[in-house]
Amino acid sequence: MKQSRLEDCSLISLDTFNHNRRGNLTVCENGSNVPFDVKRVYYLYDVPGGESRGGHSHKELHEMIVAVSGSFTVTLDDGSEKRSYLLNRSNKGLHIVPGIWRELDDFSSGAVCLVLASDKYVEADYIRLYEDFLLSKNQSRSTD
Ligand code: TYD
Repeated sequence: MKQSRLEDCSLISLDTFNHNRRGNLTVCENGSNVPFDVKRVYYLYDVPGGESRGGHSHKELHEMIVAVSGSFTVTLDDGSEKRSYLLNRSNKGLHIVPGIWRELDDFSSGAVCLVLASDKYVEADYIRLYEDFLLSKNQSRSTD
């Protein structure tokens, strides 16, 4: 696995058309503002206050997370340091590269978390135990 770092993840401004009284329109498009080809879209909603989601990393998968409604916090961890992002804008996407542990919490009422993913659902791509995640980071560090 590539030795990815927090610096490899970024907040991306998504093209937005403001139609004044007709509302806003935001676009996510392969090859322009999404830095990978999107093969899957899923969304989290009706997350009760106090619940957290995520709690895993991926071996190969890229994801981009957008708070299309409401707000929540995404905490990223590369095994060395952590950084939290409060996502509360429908036109900002957080690109998460493979090899980053993520936790999502502090969901506001009515929050909708849209996730664009670079591949289909493959359980074997998940690392779901934090100890295994740290082991994988140590292994890739020693082979870099
Ligand atoms: P899980 O990864 O635990 O959700 P989160 O990380 O957001 O807390 O997924 C919850 C369930 O949904 C689990 O049984 C796997 C299933 N699932 C799919 O079948 N396809 C998908 O694309 C995703 C993301 C999850």
